[in-house]
Amino acid sequence: MLSERQLRLYKNLSFTHSRTAQSMRSAAPLLLLFILALSDAAECQSFPEFKRKHILPTQFKTKDIRAWRKHLLKNKLCERTETQSFIKSSEENIKQICNGSGEKKNNYTKSTDLFEVYIVKSSKGIEPKCIVENCTSGKYNVIVKCEMYLPVHYHGQYIDMNTSPQPCF
Ligand SMILES: *[C@@H]1O[C@H](CO)[C@@H](O)[C@H](O)[C@H]1NC(C)=O
Ligand SMILES: *[C@@H]1O[C@H](CO)[C@@H](O)[C@H](O)[C@H]1NC(C)=O
Ligand SMILES: *[C@@H]1O[C@H](CO)[C@@H](O)[C@H](O)[C@H]1NC(C)=O
Repeated sequence: MLSERQLRLYKNLSFTHSRTAQSMRSAAPLLLLFILALSDAAECQSFPEFKRKHILPTQFKTKDIRAWRKHLLKNKLCERTETQSFIKSSEENIKQICNGSGEKKNNYTKSTDLFEVYIVKSSKGIEPKCIVENCTSGKYNVIVKCEMYLPVHYHGQYIDMNTSPQPCF
């Protein structure tokens, strides 16, 4: 499925394209592939996307399964992947991972602080529209990719050795 943004990009480009060279229509599929690759990278790798996919609002009621369903649906995350990770902390603390508080490891940065991370398994349903199949939380070091001092990609998490994840509700 193409996102609205990808479609818009494609339409704009193919419009310019058809005005300049009708005979080059056969190049369109190639062009589409190129745009998909570009916009995909752009979508996964920006702080707003990171925020949508991995940061919970600070007042989020993590013990309320209905709040999870609502959050997943509202942010179009219910069936994004089977298992998803969410950090509950202030945006400022999370940004700091990439701006001084984290530890660089190869292409990634590992937080030195522990964050409360929720690991949620969900799938699409009918009623409710989003089924939360499992939810656990614990204190983890998170591993992210940083760009321009901002987290843009969530890579994974390590749990603190002395703890184990607990059910959310
Ligand atoms: C780091 O990123 C570079 C460029 O994207 C890539 O060539 C390299 O394999 C990556 N290294 C690791 C350890 O993932
Ligand atoms: C939920 O996830 C935890 C951690 O992965 C796992 O230990 C547990 O068995 C799961 N529970 C269910 C009901 O799937
Ligand atoms: C990084 O930290 C510096 C110093 O606290 C701050 O001025 C800057 O705005 C921060 N950058 C980002 C992207 O948060």
